[in-house]
Amino acid sequence: MKIVCCRTFGPPQTLERIEIDAPVPGPDEVLVEVHAAGVGFVDGLMIQGLYQVKPPLPYYPGSEFAGVVAQVGSGVADFHVGDRVLGIANNGAFADQLTIASDKLVKVPNNLSAQVAAGFFINYATALYGLRDCGKLQAGETVLILGAAGGVGSSAISVAKAMGAIVIAAASNAEKRQAALSFGADYCVDYSDPNWRQALKTLTGKQGLDVVYDPVGGDKAEPAFRSLAPGGRFLVVGFAAGEIPRIPLNLALLKRSAIVGVDWGGEMRANPAINQTLMTTLMQWVRDGTLKPAPVQSRPMSDYQQSLTDQLAGRVVGKLVLTNA
Ligand SMILES: NC(=O)c1ccc[n+]([C@@H]2O[C@H](COP(=O)([O-])OP(=O)(O)OC[C@H]3O[C@@H](n4cnc5c(N)ncnc54)[C@H](OP(=O)(O)O)[C@@H]3O)[C@@H](O)[C@H]2O)c1
Repeated sequence: MKIVCCRTFGPPQTLERIEIDAPVPGPDEVLVEVHAAGVGFVDGLMIQGLYQVKPPLPYYPGSEFAGVVAQVGSGVADFHVGDRVLGIANNGAFADQLTIASDKLVKVPNNLSAQVAAGFFINYATALYGLRDCGKLQAGETVLILGAAGGVGSSAISVAKAMGAIVIAAASNAEKRQAALSFGADYCVDYSDPNWRQALKTLTGKQGLDVVYDPVGGDKAEPAFRSLAPGGRFLVVGFAAGEIPRIPLNLALLKRSAIVGVDWGGEMRANPAINQTLMTTLMQWVRDGTLKPAPVQSRPMSDYQQSLTDQLAGRVVGKLVLTNA
């Protein structure tokens, strides 16, 4: 079977797609025929050795996927051959097949396509954990989502709408803002405009924002923080802009607002049961139509190098997934 391999840290062009023996599931493991795998900004950092966790080499990129169960190992009772599943892996999802512990899998509802399911786990778990558990977002509150047309941003739009919030999407160009509106955002702002806070003031009036969801950082964070209402919550999700913002703490005092770190990966390592709780809620919302996941952009698995290049450059609109034919 084919798998994408990183032998040395470097740009996407240094990756290769190689042939290896098909894996065999061990006890409590499942062999999954991968139909599609999600691509995220983190994958682009991992292959360059630039992420906070540096994997041993050779490294096989790809950490979320959807597909069909092809074989089950001994002791697996909850999954059967033919089940549609999605899951997270430590690595190796940019492949034809993978083996995975059965407790890392979730059954896919009939109304969720393999493409959307492939890019679901990481971003939707982060959005629910971030908005509900860290941000205490309430129905009727107003949330600003930065980088709203990206993978993390588009899932946050869907989850915030499922929670009954009013969503303002910030993105850098007209195509991305249009996409954010199509994903369910109520309003959008152009945060490449130096006076974009004025657009926020026009939308929120004297009230201000209740929550900011920030996977971008850089020079976008402080204006967003300054636009919070008293009692607001600023959720630190990521730094796709590359620069870690330094917000003066007197602002938190004057705004009576909180800066809250959203580290879903760290929370998962400290409290492994959290994913089951998050996914149970998310899958129920998908089944009953409360959650309408944003459409994704699909490309063939063979396009892995260009896809990672576009992802790192912020050129992708929506969540990107790589599909096996
Ligand atoms: N905290 C967690 O648990 C968690 C979980 C998953 C991911 N993350 C983090 O979330 C961030 C976003 O990930 P993602 O997969 O959603 O990425 P993405 O799809 O590429 O979206 C990121 C967005 O950031 C904006 N951006 C601004 N400056 C950029 C730059 N210099 N390069 C690239 N993008 C830039 C772009 O939107 P505009 O063009 O509209 O500005 C882009 O659409 C990453 O930092 C990732 O590590 C955190």
